[in-house]
Amino acid sequence: MDKQTQMLFDAAKEARTHSHAPYSKYHVGAAVLDEHGQVHAGCNVENVAYPLGSCAEAGALSAMVMKGGSRLREVVVMGPVGEPCTPCGGCRQRLREFGRDDLVIHVSNPDGIVLTTTLGALLPHAFGPDLGETK
Ligand code: THU
Repeated sequence: MDKQTQMLFDAAKEARTHSHAPYSKYHVGAAVLDEHGQVHAGCNVENVAYPLGSCAEAGALSAMVMKGGSRLREVVVMGPVGEPCTPCGGCRQRLREFGRDDLVIHVSNPDGIVLTTTLGALLPHAFGPDLGETK
């Protein structure tokens, strides 16, 4: 794992420890790298009114926007050991708001990265904004 990815992995792991998931008991953390080289993290936050729960990716994106980030450079999502915790459909679209098809997304668990893919592979033919720039 390169240094940047390790940084994101560590941030997702730390964020996951804050997960509020008393209903599913499925704890998730996410970390994103923005165009300024800043890392932002989030965790899933469930609610007793189940549909109101939010995903870890949504929390990380909110943190990024709050700090002035608007372009995604790399993402790590971390679920429990077992079936890979790939971003849900809604979060794929959320990521598309700030990332292009070539955005690298690492799916991980606390032991390591289990799948490295791209947003374009997860959400082909996406309906998204034209993010223009190449870097
Ligand atoms: N979850 C995430 O936080 N991110 C995903 O990409 C998949 C699912 C959360 C939502 C819910 O709190 C729990 O995992 C079980 O679905």
